[in-house]
Amino acid sequence: MRIPVIAGNWKLFKTIGESVAMVQELKSLVANNQGVEIVVAPVFTALSRVNDVLQGSNVMLAAQDCYWEEEGAFTGEVAPALLKDAGCSHVIIGHSERRQYFGETDVTVNKKTRAAIAAGLCAIVCVGESLAERESEQTFSVIETQIQGGLAGITADAAPHIVIAYEPVWAIGTGKTATDAQAQEVHTFIRQLIAKTFNQPVADAMRILYGGSVKPDNVKGLMAQPDIDGALVGGASLKADSFAAIASFNA
Ligand code: PGA
Repeated sequence: MRIPVIAGNWKLFKTIGESVAMVQELKSLVANNQGVEIVVAPVFTALSRVNDVLQGSNVMLAAQDCYWEEEGAFTGEVAPALLKDAGCSHVIIGHSERRQYFGETDVTVNKKTRAAIAAGLCAIVCVGESLAERESEQTFSVIETQIQGGLAGITADAAPHIVIAYEPVWAIGTGKTATDAQAQEVHTFIRQLIAKTFNQPVADAMRILYGGSVKPDNVKGLMAQPDIDGALVGGASLKADSFAAIASFNA
């Protein structure tokens, strides 16, 4: 019932030429993949050209961030409608690197999420605890605050346009994946929060992705967990063969 999502977050990597070459290879590798939504998130400058290459393929396009205003004197920002214009169907919001380095808060995550949905994008909203928070047993309270703040005021009818990505900060780019059981435990908790925030049918339908050192050799174990509905992949999404292998977890 929940179609899994495998999304590649390219972060600040690849020129336009490298991005185009990567998706040319990727789209043929995954051309026959079924029962999975495959998404790539290049840097802003490559979006439009990558979109041209993805036409007619089963790979969708995401941006890595957006602003919440439609237009105006906001130097350097990009509005959700402009991402749509560039061919995006999805946008990643509140990634832990944005929270850590660029002052993203639950309040700005909420504004961006609402604006993205209003523009017709699917918002991939990221949450996750730091190592210190996990070690001091604050994981659940941190996740609860991030979910409640990030999704504040969003109505149940908008919820189908949201995907949650649970990314423990200590697992991102470290090679240290959460165990299947650690991830499942938090995913169940998030689904319960979604049920409380919206209702049970919304919670049952919400895709909750895991992120943090997902690789071809650990994706199957993660995806076998009942509440893990996909992956947000960083490092292993930069090469077509490893990302295609992850997107073929169900083959
Ligand atoms: P990683 O990154 O797969 O390189 O750990 C995941 C992410 O930041 O989304």
